[in-house]
Amino acid sequence: MRTNSLIKMERHHIIDLDDFSQEEIALIFATTDAMKEILSREIRRVPTLRGKTIVTLFYEPSTRTRVSFELAAKNLGADVVNVTSSTASVAKGESIIDTMRTLEALGADVIVIRHFQSGVPCLMAQHLQISVINAGDGCHAHPSQALLDLYTIREKLGHIEGLKVVIVGDILHSRVARSNIWGLSAMGAQVVLCGPPTLIPQELRRPQPLKGGECPFPPLTIQENLDRALEEADVVMVLRLQKERQEGGLLPSLREYIQLYQLNSARLSRAHLHALVMHPGPMNEGIEITPEVAHGPQSVVEDQVTNGVAVRMALLYMVTGGKG
Ligand code: CP
Repeated sequence: MRTNSLIKMERHHIIDLDDFSQEEIALIFATTDAMKEILSREIRRVPTLRGKTIVTLFYEPSTRTRVSFELAAKNLGADVVNVTSSTASVAKGESIIDTMRTLEALGADVIVIRHFQSGVPCLMAQHLQISVINAGDGCHAHPSQALLDLYTIREKLGHIEGLKVVIVGDILHSRVARSNIWGLSAMGAQVVLCGPPTLIPQELRRPQPLKGGECPFPPLTIQENLDRALEEADVVMVLRLQKERQEGGLLPSLREYIQLYQLNSARLSRAHLHALVMHPGPMNEGIEITPEVAHGPQSVVEDQVTNGVAVRMALLYMVTGGKG
């Protein structure tokens, strides 16, 4: 593979986008472009990661992320081993650190981990020599999803800087929203959060400066009225209502949620005509989004899924040192 347009920056782990610069994200886009070119060929495989072993370790269900990391690794010639919590020795009481150390001792070069608890991938990265990629941890972060979202926006609209991006729904429980806030802000977009007051966390409402004056999140606009939020929007990112993570009392009723926050055709007409409709999936059609909008002309949901493979190829290439 020619490397002249590819990533030169070194990053051993990918845990979140909070420390990614605009330049680094632009380099990931350039590498993703090169990966898309490979995927457009008749034979969609290169031997760049031949001899490397990628392990996917998932403690939560996943279709898109797990399959696209597996395809990404195979497209680059790596060996792939899939481990789920029900088949791993964690089911016999082994700690996650011991599981990860065992995978490292068995010769894994990269571990792609999804975990229901926030912070697990970060902890693993501190204990392992090999690369760790966060495939979604609790409500904390989902960096590869946010990168494929950013890439899709740039692909469809040509740029990200200056766009108004409305993220609507269950922000409290959304790792996708948190990683997108970092990524979109780094790329110069205006981020508007919209959802019921109980599903917008305090940490995003009024970011408190940390010691040293640093803010935990970049500046955001909160608009609880969806009709107003959608005015002049360039991108509408709809989040899944995470019914499995709802604690008692946060949501008065599903009916009220649908009435106030469902993205339907009438509401979407308030946004720009060119506005993209995005959803990380899986979608609850009929709850946060209507089927007409989910599969309508403005929807780029399938493009997001397709781009996920190329973006994850770029990330695997990056953490393994970008040699090939
Ligand atoms: N967007 C996303 O993370 O989907 P999966 O849960 O199917 O991986």
